[in-house]
Amino acid sequence: MTRKLTTRNLIEMKAANTKIASLTAYDASFARVLDNENVDVILVGDSLGMVIQGAANTLAVSMRDMIYHSAIVSGVVERGLVVVDMPFMSYTSTAQALGNAARLVSEGGADVVKLEGGAIILESVRALTEHGIAVCGHLGLTPQSIHQLGGYHVQGRDFQAAAAMRRDALDLQAAGACMLVLECVPGGLAGEISRSLSIPVIGIGAGNQCDGQVLVLQDMLGISGLALRFSRNFLADADSIQQAVANYVSAVRDGSFPAPEHHVAP
Ligand code: KIV
Repeated sequence: MTRKLTTRNLIEMKAANTKIASLTAYDASFARVLDNENVDVILVGDSLGMVIQGAANTLAVSMRDMIYHSAIVSGVVERGLVVVDMPFMSYTSTAQALGNAARLVSEGGADVVKLEGGAIILESVRALTEHGIAVCGHLGLTPQSIHQLGGYHVQGRDFQAAAAMRRDALDLQAAGACMLVLECVPGGLAGEISRSLSIPVIGIGAGNQCDGQVLVLQDMLGISGLALRFSRNFLADADSIQQAVANYVSAVRDGSFPAPEHHVAP
């Protein structure tokens, strides 16, 4: 019988300098492949808006969509920790966040729920963790704010933005978050934030100094049609999807991914 990973195990992995490998999954077949290849964190991301639904962004993804895909993935995963995105505008108040997160956990089988943002979500993060719901933060490029950010650009480049991100990360940890995703952030800043926290920091386009890495599965299999600097097509050098996922996990563990050519900013 496979032992299910817990949020505590991830904190232990960080303390032991064991890099955490994470990929997205939205369906049973891929979720099983990822779990069999020891992907530690299986993220049911609202990126499903793009890769499953064909939309231009994540904004039309609903609670119904997230519960549907989360229940499928959590129904087959035996080892990995299942982290599920709370969709756009599903956590605009503490009461709404509590109600929707509870549904992702009870109906969707989520182990952890992920919310985007800093100061604006702190009260909700506190309330969720006080009610026993494990929370993952998400800072840097937060795709649910894409129109306000004005496009998919590296975040935290200037002094003020970097200082705000450092503070948000510490505040999220203090509010009870058990892990943090940093997306499209200069590698040096991401490393600094990772070292300042006791909770694991999982990077995407955030250099190689984070405690782990996450990619959208379709990007790392080279089938999303996107040429992303921070991603790598692992299927190009593999005989099967299983082998591609296994190669990704070992490249994250041994630190060879991301390589310097995948860094979006120093
Ligand atoms: O939705 C998603 O897949 C994500 C990752 C890009 C981190 O949030």
